[in-house]
Amino acid sequence: MSKNIRALAAKCCYSVIDQGRSLSDELPKQQDKLEGKDKGLLQEICYGVLRYLPELENDIRQLMDKPLTGKQRVFHFLLIVGVYQIKYMRTPDHAAVSETVAATSVLKNRHMKALVNGVLRNFVRQQNTEQQNSTTLSDAITFNHPGWFIKKLQQGYPNQWQAILTANQLKPPMWLRVNQQVQTTENYQALLTNNEITVKATEPNSGAIELSRPVDVQKLPGFNEGWVSVQDAAAQQAARLLDCKPGDVVLDCCAAPGGKTCHMLETTPDITSMTAIDIEETRLERVRDNLSRLKLNAKVIAGDAANPDSWWDGQLYDRILLDAPCSGTGVIRRHPDIKWLRKSSDIDALVVLQQQILKSIWSLLKPGGTLLYATCSVLPEENSLQIAKFIEENSNAQLIAITDKVDDIGWQLVPDDRNMDGFYYAKLIKNQ
Ligand SMILES: C[S@@+](CC[C@H](N)C(=O)[O-])C[C@H]1O[C@@H](n2cnc3c(N)ncnc32)[C@H](O)[C@@H]1O
Repeated sequence: MSKNIRALAAKCCYSVIDQGRSLSDELPKQQDKLEGKDKGLLQEICYGVLRYLPELENDIRQLMDKPLTGKQRVFHFLLIVGVYQIKYMRTPDHAAVSETVAATSVLKNRHMKALVNGVLRNFVRQQNTEQQNSTTLSDAITFNHPGWFIKKLQQGYPNQWQAILTANQLKPPMWLRVNQQVQTTENYQALLTNNEITVKATEPNSGAIELSRPVDVQKLPGFNEGWVSVQDAAAQQAARLLDCKPGDVVLDCCAAPGGKTCHMLETTPDITSMTAIDIEETRLERVRDNLSRLKLNAKVIAGDAANPDSWWDGQLYDRILLDAPCSGTGVIRRHPDIKWLRKSSDIDALVVLQQQILKSIWSLLKPGGTLLYATCSVLPEENSLQIAKFIEENSNAQLIAITDKVDDIGWQLVPDDRNMDGFYYAKLIKNQ
């Protein structure tokens, strides 16, 4: 079994970038081959490479006659892994070079040894002489994001696009949600302090707790007993905004892995029923696991929200959460592979799917009922433009203001707002 971390990192990045696989599927497969701290090192390299990909590719391009193609592509990623360590990690240069060169034997192509060695040594030399690149770099290389996405951000956020791109490059914070059925945020904060886990901030609207640095969930007091969950503070706004009341019949129609389903049940345990739908049966296992850890109950059903005939029992809902399938462009700092897996053409298809789900689900809402539309996207077409169109086409849909700006259609959070993820919420009431 291969134990060279650099070889595993190159394979993992190759699977994501060239084969279109998701990092959260690929990384654990490679981590299984390692033990202890090495798993963390592999994760750090893979996340780093995906964060800085255009810049690192540009670095090696300067040092090679022609790019590596076909069967040699994995060595393209090995070179990038080497350059990432030299530029961004504390590994001494000579160790980064020799370990990366050693990976060529593990990857069973000794012919590549000389090339990897030569390129990395040249890179180290260039770094040490601080040769400055005089060419003007494209935005894609400067900001390490795909060009199509930068253009969309420039249109949507003429004054903020650079701040969003910069925030996307940072390591994400770890936010906790305290189970309000068990204790208050203040009590749990004290428990954390007693356990030498430092709190950086709390979010006043939701009571979310931000830790100074991420910790293993098993170190969180009462995690297995359901006292606390890991959930970004932006995602924790959903339960507050939907504001379920005792006796409500509630639907969460894109529920997996169940973070918001559970949060709503924690904050309003005396609702009449919670139905949690998701199209992916395998992802519903996570919903069941979360409900069971938190000792909560919901009807969990595999079904297509755009086609309720196959699962709806005929009872209208008082509250509906539609946490729609989206581009995920608000959570790039947590999933840097999104930058490379998502294509511009995917956005149009997602906008259509969101429209279809909205239309179908709206008919399941009681007159006077509330629907909360949510995405973890920062793109206006999935968010404010989507909702503006819906309101225009549905005269019984009334937008309820969330922010105090009268022109806002919904509430757009971007990843540099109070260190929360990029998220969007729009609250609609169905007029009688
Ligand atoms: C943003 S995630 C939901 C996150 C979840 N609400 C939470 O807080 O944990 C979107 C979910 O929508 C599901 N989905 C996508 N298309 C769907 C459809 N047509 N019907 C129901 N669920 C769908 C996906 O499987 C995915 O689990």
